[in-house]
Amino acid sequence: MLRKSKTSVAAAILLTSALTLTASAFAADPAEGRKLASQCKICHGLDGIAKIPIAPNLAGESQIYIQNQLKAFRSGKRQHEMMSVVAKNLTDQQIADLAAWYQSIEITARMPE
Ligand code: HEC
Repeated sequence: MLRKSKTSVAAAILLTSALTLTASAFAADPAEGRKLASQCKICHGLDGIAKIPIAPNLAGESQIYIQNQLKAFRSGKRQHEMMSVVAKNLTDQQIADLAAWYQSIEITARMPE
């Protein structure tokens, strides 16, 4: 009984995320994302502060946004000579973990006087 209800909860979550295209069906693990981010740090920094002028900062960026962009690079919907190569072999789980890592970084903004 318990098992069956867990399965239907999981199915409901899967269905919901498939419909909304926002939440991930995977439990995102920022610690795993931190490890995976070693592939990204040369351009985006491990801390999400970009190291090259043409790359955006990812620190504190929303998980949903990062995830959607990585999936768009992977599918070819969004194209960039560097990111299309980087994203090509990422799994949904890796994308979720990476997005969770960068979102978890706390940032503060200071406006000019
Ligand atoms: C060789 C440099 C390089 C590497 C390595 C790299 N990126 Fe990027 N990334 C870029 C550049 C440049 C852009 C800007 C693309 C554009 O102008 O459209 C970008 C864009 C992005 C964006 C879109 C951000 C936005 O504001 O729209 C995300 C998300 C992203 N990268 C995540 C990653 C992740 C995660 C990794 C590691 C798995 C990674 N990148 C590795 C260079 C890199």
